[in-house]
Amino acid sequence: MTVTIETSELKALQTEALIIPVPEGRDDLLPATLNRLIPKAAHQSFAGKAEEILVVFPGKGAIERIVLVGLGDGSGSRDALELFRRAIGAAAKHVARLKLSNISIYLGGIFEPDYIYESVLTAEIAPYAYDRHRTVKPEAVRSFDELKLVAPEVRVSAEHRSALQRAGIVAEAVNRARDLINTPGNHLTPSRFADEARSIASEHPTLDIQVFGRDELRKRKFEALLAVSQGSSEEPQLITLTYTPAVKPTKTIALVGKGVTFDTGGVNLKPRNHMAGMHMDMAGGAVVLAAVGVAAALELPIKVIGIVPTTENMLGGGSFRPSDVIGSRAGKTIEVADTDAEGRLILADGLDWAREFKPDAVLDIATLTGATIVALGEDRASVMGNNEQLIEQLEAAAETSGERIWPLPLDDDYRAQVKSEFADVRNLGEGMQAGTIAGGAFLELFVPKNIPWAHIDIGGTAMRSKAGPYWPKHGSGWGVKLLVEYLRSLV
Ligand code: BES
Ligand code: ZN
Ligand code: ZN
Repeated sequence: MTVTIETSELKALQTEALIIPVPEGRDDLLPATLNRLIPKAAHQSFAGKAEEILVVFPGKGAIERIVLVGLGDGSGSRDALELFRRAIGAAAKHVARLKLSNISIYLGGIFEPDYIYESVLTAEIAPYAYDRHRTVKPEAVRSFDELKLVAPEVRVSAEHRSALQRAGIVAEAVNRARDLINTPGNHLTPSRFADEARSIASEHPTLDIQVFGRDELRKRKFEALLAVSQGSSEEPQLITLTYTPAVKPTKTIALVGKGVTFDTGGVNLKPRNHMAGMHMDMAGGAVVLAAVGVAAALELPIKVIGIVPTTENMLGGGSFRPSDVIGSRAGKTIEVADTDAEGRLILADGLDWAREFKPDAVLDIATLTGATIVALGEDRASVMGNNEQLIEQLEAAAETSGERIWPLPLDDDYRAQVKSEFADVRNLGEGMQAGTIAGGAFLELFVPKNIPWAHIDIGGTAMRSKAGPYWPKHGSGWGVKLLVEYLRSLV
């Protein structure tokens, strides 16, 4: 998608569709040149409710269509930028279905870096569809050829231009993460996942990649990751994608993502209607790789280490069993109370590996529990950690990015849940109680207390059961925007 900024008068604009976001009841705010192109009856038919759309055909001139889209009246809990994202997303999807590919967005009165950023980003991620395996592609446009940001007579600054560029980089990363997440388990095996990481690494000279296969993992005592992989004929991999800035880094941040390319549950087999879709159990890993790629493309002055333990969790003669006691890279023994709680096992080794890089903070992001769906649904991720300030930084990044989180308590009452009778720790909490927190309580034991750590459970947000204004059904890529804003906030 080529993006340009059009500052000349509207009369000169040549476009298939000019999208105009309008606050509820305020189409009188539009400039006279535009108003003249919108018949009175159209004004009367459009209230400006959130995501409401009305297409108007001016009939003369070079603006072929005007797409009015409502922002709502702003009285609800959603902030102005989120209302804007939803309006742009809804309109972009609409014109994509019309198969238009040269579109424009009117930013008169709101020509600011934030709105430029959200326009470009949202227009590029809203029409996404995963159609790789369809020999006959669906009709809608998946990506626009050209986007014009229209704001007559404004002065364009370097800040405006950098927001525009950054949006393109982040959009590409979100869509790339979605492609990885949606790729079925037979196509995206752990080895293929590692190949994808290599391909990201090859795009920037500041990125380095290291991949451990089974032999390396044995040598280095990744015993929990190896245990999970036992039932699979696919070789597990530990991906380390490192971005080292050209300047002396101000900080080192480690990001650890769960990379289970298919989760059957193992011997504690998932019931049939809980297993489909479990190829998306590597969403955390995809988001981490995408975010490290963005850090490199944006040349952030922070060293970022992306760590993705990746394996299948399969059922076979060699599978690890419920009640097995296994080791871990950290040296702690683990009672496997449930083979379906495999994410925390591979992350335990991933978190211990992160320690080697002496990070200033460690974040892990994982489709760890179904319980987070029960608690928060699909719109917010759960967050826990050992450091108040880090959680606050993440909350701020969540509000900026629109990928929102909510903290859950992690204290001794919950820590008691993962005590084991036979080993140092057990990979399961108590029955139906606070399953998401039990996951956090387990992971906490694999991070030294003096390293700020946060755990983001995207079990709800990563895989959507229905599409929204700017996200698709299935793999959403949720977390890329959040991690990018978090990293940017450290600069
Ligand atoms: N990958 C699942 C969690 C999951 C389930 C995410 C559904 C998104 C949608 C994870 O490995 C798992 O199976 N967790 C168990 C944990 C339990 C055994 C403690 C769960 O959530 O039931
Ligand atoms: Zn599982
Ligand atoms: Zn899982």
